[in-house]
Amino acid sequence: MSDASPPPRVPAFDGKWALILGASSGFGGATARHLAALGLNIFGVHLDRRATMANVEAVRSDIESTGQQAWFVNINAADDSLRNQALDDFVKKVGAASAAGSLRVLMHSLAFGTLRPFVGDDPGAFMTRKNLEMTLDVMANSLVYWTQGCVRRGLLEEGSSIFAMTSSGGTRVIPSYGAVSAAKAALESHIRQLAYELGPRGIRANAIRAGVTDTPALRKIPGNDLLLAEAARRNPFGRLTTPEDVALAIGALAGPGGRFISGTVVGCDGGEDVVG
Ligand SMILES: NC(=O)c1ccc[n+]([C@@H]2O[C@H](COP(=O)([O-])OP(=O)(O)OC[C@H]3O[C@@H](n4cnc5c(N)ncnc54)[C@H](O)[C@@H]3O)[C@@H](O)[C@H]2O)c1
Repeated sequence: MSDASPPPRVPAFDGKWALILGASSGFGGATARHLAALGLNIFGVHLDRRATMANVEAVRSDIESTGQQAWFVNINAADDSLRNQALDDFVKKVGAASAAGSLRVLMHSLAFGTLRPFVGDDPGAFMTRKNLEMTLDVMANSLVYWTQGCVRRGLLEEGSSIFAMTSSGGTRVIPSYGAVSAAKAALESHIRQLAYELGPRGIRANAIRAGVTDTPALRKIPGNDLLLAEAARRNPFGRLTTPEDVALAIGALAGPGGRFISGTVVGCDGGEDVVG
């Protein structure tokens, strides 16, 4: 993290990788940097155009400055053939023998949803079937397909952890957030199912429920200024959640201290969610 000396490296991370979906920004970017500082190489998946490529280079160069490898792929994570190609390329990159059990962490931190009302005065502005399905596909179901791809290739092993980013929208109404709320509820359900199915292999799966955090995705929500001000007012810590708060939580849970934590939603919000 930015304000302190580097954290001690985690011996169990030595030579291993973290696959981060959404590695170029927000929670994914901060977690990529922190897990690299703890000793993991980073396989980052992101979707950026020229305007935001500088962020990608900044994350990569911070990872490399820790001495770890950064391997980034700029693709739509919801595309089946691009996902399979990226995973096959990763196996080729690390070598088939070393790829087995190479992923210590799989993190899902994709923000790509439609922010429209379901109904309202202007039918032209309603949520369409395509909007709803695309939001659920990217923000929830892609977690299952990436996990299947990793399991099929033997990339996860006993001790590996899956993390998916959820929000209080998974259980509450936020204006314009109907599709993303549905995706969060589905994502939390997928995490429970994966924890059940992967537990016998010693692989954990948890959702991280972050508080309201000032990131590019949050800035796209209509009325985000109000959301940010209200969250800061309500939060018992008197401040917003930061991407680094989440990165620290994931670093701790992915390490030996998290070895029996699975199938749950872990709040990382300073208690914001429990304050009415
Ligand atoms: N910001 C908040 O207040 C908040 C709170 C709780 C949960 N979350 C959740 O955290 C996750 C990450 O959000 P963030 O705020 O860090 O957003 P962000 O915009 O900072 O980062 C999103 C990342 O996803 C990548 N991405 C988006 N669509 C993609 C696609 N189709 N294929 C590949 N990569 C894609 C982007 O390149 C970027 O790296 C989201 O699921 C969001 O709902 C956000």
